[in-house]
Amino acid sequence: MEANTPVPAATLAEQQRYYRARAAEYDEWFLRRGRYDHGPELNARWHAEVGQVQDALARAALTGDVLELACGTGWWTERLAATAGHLTALDAAPETIAINRARLEAAGLADRVAFAEADLFAWRPDRAYDAVFFGFWLSHVPDDRLDAFLGAVGAALRPGGTVFWVDSLRNESGTAPDQPLPGPGDPLTQRRLNDGRTFRIVKRFRGRDELVDAFGRSGIDLTVTATPTYFQIGTGQRR
Ligand SMILES: C[S@@+](CC[C@H](N)C(=O)[O-])C[C@H]1O[C@@H](n2cnc3c(N)ncnc32)[C@H](O)[C@@H]1O
Repeated sequence: MEANTPVPAATLAEQQRYYRARAAEYDEWFLRRGRYDHGPELNARWHAEVGQVQDALARAALTGDVLELACGTGWWTERLAATAGHLTALDAAPETIAINRARLEAAGLADRVAFAEADLFAWRPDRAYDAVFFGFWLSHVPDDRLDAFLGAVGAALRPGGTVFWVDSLRNESGTAPDQPLPGPGDPLTQRRLNDGRTFRIVKRFRGRDELVDAFGRSGIDLTVTATPTYFQIGTGQRR
């Protein structure tokens, strides 16, 4: 499939079902456990680069009224809640929101967060925020939905507001060995759960120039950086 071929709504629904079913095992990927354990050296590299992303997020200092899109199980929600005056956290999966809420309650931060279920392919912002964050979401937005999604992000930011996102660089050891990466340019990939069930989802790796152009079309001046192996980071300001 070509990168810009429209992705059917049924595939986006399958992507939602995948993340609902994966909620309880999601953190294994981020913590390099189970199928995602690549041995001490690569695991240490991963965790060091997560630290670099966290340092970049701390430097961006997302304060005030902050919005997190596709919040998932809450690794980033916990960090955002520590600096935000108020955090709104959206996700399509009630299962991930439940895990996220429990994490924030354990950290004593739940009273700063308003969780809500939302399908980001239909979502429009209710107001303009000081900052918008999304982790490992942009690569799940197909090309034919990118401008609509980024238009909504632009509308969710006040002039001068900050966007910060992190996503995957294309690297075999970023995922599990039983989940080969999509071919270059192919927007779809197959994911597998621990119980063997498989799902087709969107995973679109994009280069810096393509991303800067796309955000620019939505009124956001974007800078893209990367850690050495695993992560791409975008920071930008609404014009
Ligand atoms: C790769 S996870 C990232 C989670 C979290 N941001 C993190 O970095 O840990 C993608 C998230 O997108 C959510 N998601 C999938 N389809 C969605 C949709 N259409 N609208 C909103 N969220 C969706 C999933 O439930 C999942 O929590």
